Amino acid sequence: MRSLLSITELSVEEIDGLVATAKDIIAKPQKYAEICRGKKLATLFFEPSTRTRLSFEAAMYELGGNVLSVSSAASSSASKGESVADTAKVVSCYADIIAMRHPKEGAPMVAAMNASIPVINAGDGGHNHPTQTLADLLTIHLEKGRFDHLTVGFCGDLKFGRTVHSLIDALSRYEGIKIVLISPEELKLPSYVKNDVLRKKGIEFTQTTDLLAAMPELDVLYMTRVQKERFFNEEDYLRLKDSYILTPDKLKTAKPDLSILHPLPRVNEIAVAIDDDPRACYFKQVRNGKYMRMALIMKLLGLTPEI
Ligand code: NCD
Repeated sequence: MRSLLSITELSVEEIDGLVATAKDIIAKPQKYAEICRGKKLATLFFEPSTRTRLSFEAAMYELGGNVLSVSSAASSSASKGESVADTAKVVSCYADIIAMRHPKEGAPMVAAMNASIPVINAGDGGHNHPTQTLADLLTIHLEKGRFDHLTVGFCGDLKFGRTVHSLIDALSRYEGIKIVLISPEELKLPSYVKNDVLRKKGIEFTQTTDLLAAMPELDVLYMTRVQKERFFNEEDYLRLKDSYILTPDKLKTAKPDLSILHPLPRVNEIAVAIDDDPRACYFKQVRNGKYMRMALIMKLLGLTPEI
C-alpha cells in the first residue's frame, strides 16, 4: 500500500509512466471508463478548494468509481476535535483511497501513517501539492515535449506557494534546468527549498524582483497568486497582492513559444486579455490535472492497464 505525500516519492521513471498513462487516457477515454468500478475515493478537504476537489472527484467518476466527500472542516468531526489520525482510521473503513487537503503542514503524512488505504496529499499548508505538480508536468510535456533543458520562471508568492515548492522539487531532477525566481523581497523562495533542493542538486538559479528583465529567456512562466490565507496581517497582503500583473504588453519580449502556467485560482496576476493568447496554458492545465489524477489513482490502487 502506497501513498503520495511529496512529488519526490515518485521516481522520474514513474513520472514518465504517469504521463504516458495520462496521454493514453486522453486518446482512449473509453478504455478507462470502468477500471475503478466498485472503488471509492474519499475527498477530505479541510481547507477551501474548488478545482482540486472537483478534479479528484471527476477523475474517479471518469474511471467508473464513486466518491465520498467532506468539503470543509466545519462540516466534519474535525470540528468536534477528532484527530487526523482517527479520521484516517475511520475513513479507511469506508473508502479505498483518500485525497486530503489540510491547512497544517504534515497532516496528510499523519493520515497516511494511520490509514490502511493510500493517502494522496492534495495540498498541506504552504508545504507541498504533488498532484498540482503532476498537472503542471503533463502540461509542460504536452507543450514542450520534454522536461529537460528548460528555463522556468516562477513569479509571485514563492514563499507560501506550495505548488511552486513541489514543481521545483520535481524539475530539479532533470538535466539542463534553469530556474528564475521572480518575487518581491518579502515573498522569496524559502531558504530550505534553495538549500535542500536547488543548491543540493546543483541547479542553476537566479533571483530577481524584475519580471520584465527575466522575460526574454523563459521557456515556461509559472505565475502564482499571493497566498492571502497564509499572511499574518492584512496590511502586508494588500501591499503585496498586486506585485505582478501579467499584461499583453509585458509579453512583447517573451519567446513566441513561451508557455504560461498558473495553478489557479487567478486573482489579478494575469490579465484576462491574455487568455486568448496561444501561449496561455492555464485552462489546459486544469484539464491535464484531471488526467494525471486518474493515472495516479489507478497507480496507487494497482489498477493501471497496459498501454
Ligand atoms: C493552488 C493551491 O491550492 O495551492 N490551487 C490549486 O490547487 N489549484 C494554488 C493557489 O491556491 O493559489
